[in-house]
This record gives sequence, C-alpha cells and structure tokens, in this order.
Amino acid sequence: MGLPTGPLPLAVLGFLVLMWLFKLRRAHSLYALEQQYGCGNVVKEKVSRLDFLGVLKVLEFAHHFRHKTALEYTDTLFKKYGNTYMSQILGYRIHFTCDPANIKHILSTGFADYDSSKLRGPLFNPITPHGIFTVDGLDWRVMRDQLRTQLSNNRRICDFVMFEQQFQTFLQRVPPDGQRFDIQGCFISLAIDIQSGFALGDSVGSLHPSPAPAKKHFAEDLHVIKETIVRDGFRGPLRHLSRKLEFRRSCTRARRFVMDYAEREVAKGISQDNAEGYYFMKGLNEKGADAAQLANQTLSILLANDSIATTLSGTFFLLSQHKRVVSKLRQIVLEEIGPNPPTYDQLTKIPYLTYVIHESMRFFPAAPLNARTANKHTVLPFGGGLDGSKPILIRKDDILVFSSWSSHRSEASFGSNPEEFRPERWENLGADVAGFIPFNKGPRICPGQRYAMIAISYMVARLMQTFSNVTDYNPGPWVERISMTLENDNGVLVGLS
Ligand code: HEM
Repeated sequence: MGLPTGPLPLAVLGFLVLMWLFKLRRAHSLYALEQQYGCGNVVKEKVSRLDFLGVLKVLEFAHHFRHKTALEYTDTLFKKYGNTYMSQILGYRIHFTCDPANIKHILSTGFADYDSSKLRGPLFNPITPHGIFTVDGLDWRVMRDQLRTQLSNNRRICDFVMFEQQFQTFLQRVPPDGQRFDIQGCFISLAIDIQSGFALGDSVGSLHPSPAPAKKHFAEDLHVIKETIVRDGFRGPLRHLSRKLEFRRSCTRARRFVMDYAEREVAKGISQDNAEGYYFMKGLNEKGADAAQLANQTLSILLANDSIATTLSGTFFLLSQHKRVVSKLRQIVLEEIGPNPPTYDQLTKIPYLTYVIHESMRFFPAAPLNARTANKHTVLPFGGGLDGSKPILIRKDDILVFSSWSSHRSEASFGSNPEEFRPERWENLGADVAGFIPFNKGPRICPGQRYAMIAISYMVARLMQTFSNVTDYNPGPWVERISMTLENDNGVLVGLS
C-alpha cells in the first residue's frame, strides 16, 4: 500500500515535518544554552510509568494537603532527591528547591527572570484583579512604589494607641486563672482587627463580643476567599473541577465592603484633620489614587493579615513548651520596659525579643511554600550534575517551587539541632542569614515587614508584662493547616496566668 497522496495528507505531512524541525531547533538551542552556562542535569523525581502525565502526582499532592502532611511530604522528597529536583506534572516542568543559594537567586539576583502573576493571577483575580499580588513588570513596579511611599515611615504608621486598644480587647478574651483557651483563634481575630484598623482606619472588631453584622460578614468572606485561593493553588488545573459559587459571592461582597470605604474616602477629599491620624487608605487617597486603586491595594493588605497571626500563634505554641524562654523573655521585657506599654524605641532595642520572634518564624514561616514561573530561558545556579554543584537550565514557563519550611530547617544555615527551639542561636546569626526568608527577599520582599515586626513585638511584650506563665494544653505536636498562611490545625491551646 502506497502513501496516501492528495492535497490534505500532503499538508498534514508538511505540518508534521515542520513541527519536528521546530522541536529539533528548540532542542538544539536549549542544548547550546546548557553548554554556554555549563549546566548539568537535574535530578528528576521518579514516578510510575503509568503516570506519565503526572495526574497521580497532583492527586498525591492534594491528598497530602487534605491530610495535613504537605510540608512533611515535600521535606521527605528533598531528603530523597536533594535540595533541588524536578517533577513533571500535567505537562509542566516543576523545579522544587530549598537550596538557599537558589532561593536567593530566584528572589534577588535573577528576579527579572521570574514572575508571580501567572500562577497567582487566576487565583486572586476575582478578589483583587489589579492588586499587587497579581501583577508583574511595570504594573507591579507602579503598585510597589505606591505601597513604598505609604509604608516607608514605620514610626508614623505604627499606631500605638490602636495597638494598646486592641491589646486591651484581646485581654478580655483571656480566661482567668490560666484556664485553657485557643490563643490562635484570638490571634487570628486580633490580626484582622489590627490590619483593618491600619488599612481602613476602622477595625472590623472581630475580638469584640458583638461586632457589627456587616463587619462580621466581611471577616467571614475574607476567610472563605483565603481558604479557596490556597486550596485551589494546591489543586493546580484540577481546581476547575470544583464549584466556586460561594467563593465568587464572597469576593463580590468583600469588594463591595472595601469599595464603600474607598468611595467615602475619595468623596471626603484630602483631609486637613491631623488629629484623625494615619491610616493606609487615607494616605493613598492623599497621593491621588482613585477609588478602584484604593480598594485593590487595601484588599491586598487585608489578605496579607494572617501572617501576623501565624507568627504570634507559633510563638505562643513554642513558648508554652519552653518555660525557660518564657522566664528569660519576661525578665528582660520587665527590665527594659517596666510595667507600662512600650514605646517604639524600646521595642527595637530588645534583641532577645527579636530572637524569640525570628526563631518562631523559622519554625512556622507564614508562607511555607511559594512559587514563581520563568518568563524566559534562564539558569538556576545549583542543582545540576552529580553533586548538584552545576547550574541547571530553566526553560521559559517552567515552574519553580521554593520551600522556606525546609530551608528554615537546615543545619548548614542555622547551626546544630535545627529542630530545637532555641532563640539564643540568633546571637550568632543575622536576620539576613542564607535561607531565612519569612518575609522573602529581594525587590518583592514583604513591604509590611517592619510594621509587622513592631506589631508582633508589641503584643508579645505586653503579654509577657501581664502574665508569667504560659501553660501548655496542646494535645500533641503542631499539625499543619495551610491557609493563606500557616496555622495549627488543632488551634493553639494555652493558659495564661
Ligand atoms: C509576620 C507578618 C508577615 C509576614 C511573615 C509576611 C510575609 C510576606 C511574604 C513571604 C511575602 C512575599 C510573597 C511573595 O512574593 O510570594 C509578602 C508580601 C507582601 N506582604 Fe507581607 N507579611 C507579613 C505582614 C504583612 C503586613 C502587616 C503587611 C501590610 C501592612 C504586608 C503586606 C504585604 C504585601 C502588600 C505583599 C506583596 C508585595 C509584593 O508583591 O511586592 N505583609 N509578605
């Protein structure tokens, strides 16, 4: 039987040849790049032959996410394959790394080669279509400049009167005589109260016994939104299989809630009333942002609020198991501050307080896993060759997942027994130690970092001034719950006396 001839089969044949030539040319140019940069082969994750598409792999990830073992699972894979390895999942090439040098490269030196928006855009667009989390390049730079102007004067934006009011409301939730309560639940409420006070100039009052219904619904909507975004992030393309009605409704209501504040702010014009104090929306309005920009930036800030709760909850989980640290911290806080509420200067001058917070962020980083996509062919400095010392080629559209959960547990970076909670290790480490990325690094480093450190230091110092014992009522070890940030699935059960 001869080859079919005629115009259609010939066109198909021509197309196939063209495709083949295109592939050959691409392989050749990738090989040339590998040679140019001295790249080596990266270790590839071994998967069953039946799973050549990587579907089982996605299901495995989703399974670990559901069973609260995703972080342990990724850690096990690093132990098996090394600090940098590659998986192929649903046609995507995904590089996993916990190597501090590679993470630094992705976030700093090679920043321009990697984007955030491709992965985050589809997840965040319904709530912040033009928010800072969903844009890259020039759009991101404009938004970032807007934020920088607002957040640069930390002394001005840290409202100690508001912090103290929030602290006093928090105290009302602490049961007497060291009785058991879930301090994590209270910190989650405290964090959104602080952040809404900061962002809108009007706290949503979650800690209040009877918050206004609209504010209560807003806090609930934010919760639904964050849960869905993170769950869908883990599901990858399989997220399209789940229903999104509740998520969409929550997004619409939450946007409306913030938009109302934005429209009122714009209508007020530029306030001459200095007694009103600073809040983020007011500051942005004074710089001439329109209502949509006010709403997008403010919602982004509000989505970032849980990280404060993660850090405070992690700190008290660890303190409840380390009486020695509680005694030492309390003594130092009382010596340096005395019984009155602290000042800005006092909080920045207590190294041991900062060590405790850094150590807790090392254990429980708010963003334990993070990802970028390559916007061009580029290289990662390590992970190639037999000993991983050579660069590896990263192709355009490859995904890079980096794990602070694992990089924060490295003996090479943090000294012996990294699994031990020991704030004193920070006496010999700087906050810029390789692989320590609670706020990320580079141009996209958390712009709220200094504000967050002061707010957290304030609350820890006030609690240490007020109580001398943190009793541990937790039923067992920390069980991961990855929401927009990291939580303990069992809550953090302590008593304060
Ligand atoms: C302990 C508290 C906090 C932690 C651990 C934390 C951590 C982070 C991390 C890891 C990122 C980088 C995300 C990425 O690029 O993939 C980030 C970004 C960001 N954070 Fe925070 N954050 C905290 C508090 C805050 C606060 C209080 C604010 C606002 C006042 C804030 C505002 C932001 C914003 C707007 C971004 C996006 C920056 C950009 O994309 O350029 N964060 N944060």
